[in-house]
Amino acid sequence: MQLNSEERAMLDGDYGRATRKAMQILATLGDIYGAGRMAPVTSVQIAGVSYDNLGEAGLQFLTEMAEGGGRALVLTTLNPAGMDIENWQALGIDPDFAENQQRVIQAFERMGVITTCSCTPYLSGNLPHFREHIAWAESSAVCYANSVIGARTNREGGPSALAAALTGRTPEYGYHLDKNRVPGITIEVNADVSESFHFGALGKVIGEKLETEGRKLVPYILGIENASLEGLKSLCASIATYGGAALFHMDGITPEAAQMFPPDKILTISQADLDAAARSLNDAAADEVDFVSLGCPHLSIVEIARIAELLQGKKVTKEFWITTARPTKHIADMMGYTKIIEESGAKFATDTCCVVAPIKGRFKVLATDSAKACYYAYSKNDFKTVFKPFDQVVSEAVNPGGE
Ligand code: F3S
Repeated sequence: MQLNSEERAMLDGDYGRATRKAMQILATLGDIYGAGRMAPVTSVQIAGVSYDNLGEAGLQFLTEMAEGGGRALVLTTLNPAGMDIENWQALGIDPDFAENQQRVIQAFERMGVITTCSCTPYLSGNLPHFREHIAWAESSAVCYANSVIGARTNREGGPSALAAALTGRTPEYGYHLDKNRVPGITIEVNADVSESFHFGALGKVIGEKLETEGRKLVPYILGIENASLEGLKSLCASIATYGGAALFHMDGITPEAAQMFPPDKILTISQADLDAAARSLNDAAADEVDFVSLGCPHLSIVEIARIAELLQGKKVTKEFWITTARPTKHIADMMGYTKIIEESGAKFATDTCCVVAPIKGRFKVLATDSAKACYYAYSKNDFKTVFKPFDQVVSEAVNPGGE
């Protein structure tokens, strides 16, 4: 691939060891994927932050990059870590794990990365604009950035996202190119899709249908009249989880849809499809639930306000995690929502989530409104799941086995 003089100098080591390593990673990726050149990026989001996923080898790589003079050249934020950075004891995190997780965060800090650990960076100031080239890693955020914002990113791995941060570049292939953003299949939705729970189930249905197609087709979705930010982030999480989708267009909702035509190849999704998807994520009875979690993807302030409203004057009877970004938690503090929620006995699990925290073996059945959280609860932690609408999940934490 073609490198300009500055990129060539990075590769030659003129900007230090870490930058050379970063450019080597990007140039290799560019060659593998047939990129013609590098695209300048303005925003990076790095995944693989939990020590549970990174392990000692991952931490060693980060430490070497920090010691090699690595410094983020563009706005860079992190995906959730394995614990609440400030309040990990309350979540029952092992002190050794906490120490290692802090070492990970410190390595990123040394490189000038902003350590808001969140999968919804667009809610905390890392918000690119339409058509901007970025390098994000978290699958739900990648899908949100490409689809809802109309920015351009491939799904980066942890090392390639860090490399993009340290060089301000990414190889120009995949979703950075117009030709790869054109829809290949129309999805006609004939079902009630209003709450984020429904959007999660819809993402599962579409994702699984795309998987059976066997090709990575960009879906063009018809039939959704309204979609809230919360609904869209839920859809992005589940369509990425169940179908590996990093981009969709939604008629009347997402910015590129108006420039595209719905393809002739049509798949129809019915209410029965959605109901079956929701049923498939329930493999336990409500009275077996011993862990409740909301915030996959991380909660917006609107969702936290709703939880506070529902928990006002009540006590929870199960471990209940409210997962969100620290800046959103600060707004909840200001608004008095945190006080109401914590007085109920529910816990903020800020900076982390029920998937990346090391909680395997601690619980048996998770109740959540997130189709993505159900997938990983089962595949990563061996939990059974109860999948319900948002308000009913809160009820589950308050009333054992009932609504
Ligand atoms: Fe975010 Fe964790 Fe879900 S990273 S999308 S809350 S699995």
